Amino acid sequence: MIGAYMNTNILPKIYSTIALGMLLLAAAASAAEVNIYSARKEDLIKPILEKFEQDTDIKVNLITGKADALLQRLISEGKNSPADILITTDAGRLYRAKNAKVLQKIDSETLTISIPEQYRDPEGYWFGLTLRARPIVYATDRVQPDQLSTYEALVNLKWKQKICIRSSDNIYNQSLVASLIAQLGEEDTFKWTESFVKNFARPPQGGDRDQIKAIAAGQCDIALVNNYYLGNMLTSKNESEAEAAKKVKIFWPNQKDRGTHVNISGAAITASSKNKEAALQLLEFLVSDAAQQWYAEKNLEYPIKPGIQPSEILQSWGEFKADSLNLHHLGEHNAQAVMIMDRAKWK
Ligand SMILES: [Fe+2]
Repeated sequence: MIGAYMNTNILPKIYSTIALGMLLLAAAASAAEVNIYSARKEDLIKPILEKFEQDTDIKVNLITGKADALLQRLISEGKNSPADILITTDAGRLYRAKNAKVLQKIDSETLTISIPEQYRDPEGYWFGLTLRARPIVYATDRVQPDQLSTYEALVNLKWKQKICIRSSDNIYNQSLVASLIAQLGEEDTFKWTESFVKNFARPPQGGDRDQIKAIAAGQCDIALVNNYYLGNMLTSKNESEAEAAKKVKIFWPNQKDRGTHVNISGAAITASSKNKEAALQLLEFLVSDAAQQWYAEKNLEYPIKPGIQPSEILQSWGEFKADSLNLHHLGEHNAQAVMIMDRAKWK
């Protein structure tokens, strides 16, 4: 009797323990998550990550920071890094991350089909998500577009003291010079850089927006800027910024040869990823039509996926031919580019 008494009393406990265990298992199964280290600002990516969370029940944890600091963190954390995905806003740093062996190779048909070959690593270590161009902008009241043609032609003496550009420690300029090295070779790129620097209107200072403002203020006539800075200024609530932006126009250089220099924002899965499946699911989501449309529109960049329309303001600038150089060359020539800019005294 005593045994029977005990059994009947224990059974519900066993059942409830099993039930609790099953509940925990179910919770673990639905608690898939993915951890991102992002060099892209939170407000430019958060909404699309939230959409992914709603669609999939996968929780996304986002840590934002400067690209170099995030890369350093990945390297020092090694195998113990909680990060699954690294997001950066240029190909050069993805190349660095690959070389530092903190990324892993991904084989995904969806990514391969959606992203043109030149905008992903040839070995599958990183993938472009959006495209940004670095064209010439010019003062509409002082420059005629037919005076412009190529990046190479910006060394012409007619542009002496007419060019504004940010400093050489900026990766966008380093990548542009790297693209010239790929095209012209090191020696000719050095000659170009030296003459280009001699045409600067002032020592390099500020960001891309400041170059546009300097043109508007009459300090120089042309500048090289990433397209989304102009887009952001044109749509800015700050009236003086919007006014300054209206005083310049875009010129797409090198349309008769290799095309205008472009770069990407992109992503990679880390070597240490413990949530690889979820991470891959997120990357594939980011190249879906709807995500591409939203993401590129929000950032005023170009969608990476062919066939997706850019935002209205980008459409108003017309179509252009982009340089078809595989962007891993930008990383490959980065060190030479930095050295050349230094030798040419580009501050
Ligand atoms: Fe930027």
